[in-house]
Amino acid sequence: MPIEFDSDQFDEAEERMVTSRVLAEDDNENSLRPQSLREYFGQEKIKDMLRVFIDAAKFRNEPLDHTLLYGPPGLGKTTLAGIIAAEMGVNIRTTTGPAIEKPRDLAAILTNLNENDILFIDEIHRLNRTVEEVLYPAMEDFMLDIIVGQGPAARTIRIDLKKFTLIGATTRAGQLSSPLRDRFGVQFKLDLYSNAELEQIVRRSAGILGIPVKDPAPGEVSGTYEIARRSRGTPRIANRLLKRVRDYAQVRSNGVIDKDITDIALQALDIDKLGLDAIDRRLLQSIIVNFGGGPVGLETLAYTIGEETVTIEDVYEPYLMQLGFLSRTPRGRCATPAAYAHMGIPYQAPSGNQDADQMTFGVGK
Ligand SMILES: Nc1ncnc2c1ncn2[C@@H]1O[C@H](COP(=O)(O)OP(=O)(O)OP(=O)(O)O)[C@@H](O)[C@H]1O
Ligand SMILES: [Mg+2]
Repeated sequence: MPIEFDSDQFDEAEERMVTSRVLAEDDNENSLRPQSLREYFGQEKIKDMLRVFIDAAKFRNEPLDHTLLYGPPGLGKTTLAGIIAAEMGVNIRTTTGPAIEKPRDLAAILTNLNENDILFIDEIHRLNRTVEEVLYPAMEDFMLDIIVGQGPAARTIRIDLKKFTLIGATTRAGQLSSPLRDRFGVQFKLDLYSNAELEQIVRRSAGILGIPVKDPAPGEVSGTYEIARRSRGTPRIANRLLKRVRDYAQVRSNGVIDKDITDIALQALDIDKLGLDAIDRRLLQSIIVNFGGGPVGLETLAYTIGEETVTIEDVYEPYLMQLGFLSRTPRGRCATPAAYAHMGIPYQAPSGNQDADQMTFGVGK
């Protein structure tokens, strides 16, 4: 079955080292994918709940409730789906929203599932409506209504399915239709990772890849921590930067990762102290210089820097907001004083901006 890709995702991916989307060089991502909850760092609340839900489902010998995983790219949704299957001890069948073109494609998948199996649908917000409608009774009552024959001879037959768990993943929960969303008994939002969590991930990956890491002297920062704090809260980026730093360590140094070689490598890659790359800086620069610090509407901003609005929302903004560099107000995006400081531009309060008092800083506003 052909799988569609957004061509613009590839364009962006080609030029950007810190993109959180998959790059061709992330091919062997699987080798770094944790297989169990124990090896999956961070997302503690989600893991705590999952442990209970998984144990309870196993105890009752029932499938897990249908589960929706959402959050920015590269935070571990696909990984978590695999781990849930492993912890449940069941098979996982993986597909994507756009790959299921017709109701009968979905029917073929569903009728082939075994009791308690997991069906993982990535990019579930891209399922088409007719397919979605077949999914509802399947999720609710584990049955399919199929129309056979045509014209006056057409009739509906009902097929019973084995009990299964649907795990849906999406970067855009807002685009899910509410009937579909409501049918997920469990909904988890993945958050950006802390530097400490990312460092654990980098250390684990270095171990798997056989990359030597130097322990820092007391009071000094390690190379792995430096990689972590420049990874935009995103494990996929952390693993990618680790591999690039390894290249520099092997060619320019003794192959061991420490703070110095990490600084050299990341500077060469044009990734700054906070993990911002040229596009992030262009975005902040544009708000500050072209729009007097904001507010500026998302569409205008996207047009000005030549990016898609969805890319700005999914990929750039979560991290810039976590850093407290960007705020969303009812009238548009604003650069915060911290953003001015990072860009080395003296701060000037936007004049006559009535929204200034109500500005919200940080994530989740
Ligand atoms: N909690 C974690 N602990 C360790 N490694 C992780 C964790 N989360 C993600 N990773 C690593 O990051 C990589 C990307 O994760 P994954 O593919 O699961 O992200 P995703 O959320 O499915 O992204 P996308 O939205 O692009 O599909 C994986 O190869 C995995 O090795
Ligand atoms: Mg994924």
